[in-house]
Amino acid sequence: MHPKAKSLGQGALTVALCATLVNAFAEGDVKRGEYLAKAAGCVGCHTEEKKDAVPFAGGRALKTPFGTFYGPNITPHPQAGIGRWTEADFMRAMREGKRPDGRNYFPAFPYPSFTNITDRDLRDLWAYLRALPPNARANQEHDLWFIFGWRFLVTFWKWFFFTPGPFTNIQGLTDIANRGAYLVQALGHCGECHTPRNFLGGPRSSRFLAGGKGPDGKGTPNLTPTGLKKRRPAAQRTCAGLFKAPTFGFRAGCCNRSRRR
Ligand code: HEC
Ligand code: HEC
Repeated sequence: MHPKAKSLGQGALTVALCATLVNAFAEGDVKRGEYLAKAAGCVGCHTEEKKDAVPFAGGRALKTPFGTFYGPNITPHPQAGIGRWTEADFMRAMREGKRPDGRNYFPAFPYPSFTNITDRDLRDLWAYLRALPPNARANQEHDLWFIFGWRFLVTFWKWFFFTPGPFTNIQGLTDIANRGAYLVQALGHCGECHTPRNFLGGPRSSRFLAGGKGPDGKGTPNLTPTGLKKRRPAAQRTCAGLFKAPTFGFRAGCCNRSRRR
């Protein structure tokens, strides 16, 4: 072969290889996605509460003061699930709390926390959801009180209480503390239940993690250092159970549920 042709050929091969690698990154990592989904407790709200329920096929009833929400089917089934979605649809849902048709999601879907998830982690979560077996379980309508069922009202709620955008490291914290802050604020969405809310259901951010209510109205303890000092032994037991290395077994509904199972 002519030397020039050979080097051209090698060049093309390198370009092709690089393209494959870039693609592999761009497409997200299924295994990592699985770990992230566990950390975020996605399965808890997106799986019926009965024996042999299909994970992620939807149907978990979430009773709140505003009515009952049903976690939808998020398997890749084209009709029943999110099989027709693009990655961009998924990113918009998680980052902006918007459906593919542009309407709002209700914040019972904890996107006010998930908006803090980084692009890379969102891509891995998406890759994992795509790899699930499609399931045809049909979604249920939410059963909400009058006016709380109006999606456009969520626009006003978002003005007051929603700041979209990924987590950025907090200055002055160590890498480990920042990793913890990311797990708590973004994936673990601990503030959704452990931060008190005002009468509009908006988190009182000045009292972050100072103790609030779970979706069912059950009181949650104060997780700030003042609160933890008081309940250290019990809290430590729970936290050890919450985060089981290497892929910690956090479930939505948190401690009360992990205890029951
Ligand atoms: C606290 C309960 C809860 C948790 C935890 C939760 N979700 Fe959801 N999710 C919901 C609810 C409720 C809705 C429906 C919101 C609506 O209809 O406005 C929803 C909607 C969605 C949708 C849109 C589905 C559709 O058909 O439009 C996606 C995608 C989704 N969740 C993905 C996830 C992922 C990924 C995770 C974990 C990172 C997760 N959810 C964790 C409650 C939850
Ligand atoms: C869906 C709501 C919800 C979320 C999200 C949640 N928790 Fe909880 N948590 C609760 C409830 C309810 C209780 C108290 C009920 C109980 O005693 O089991 C609780 C209790 C606790 C306790 C005290 C347990 C004890 O026995 O003293 C700790 C510690 C805790 N949560 C940590 C966390 C952390 C860390 C996160 C985020 C990774 C988190 N929680 C996310 C609802 C939640």
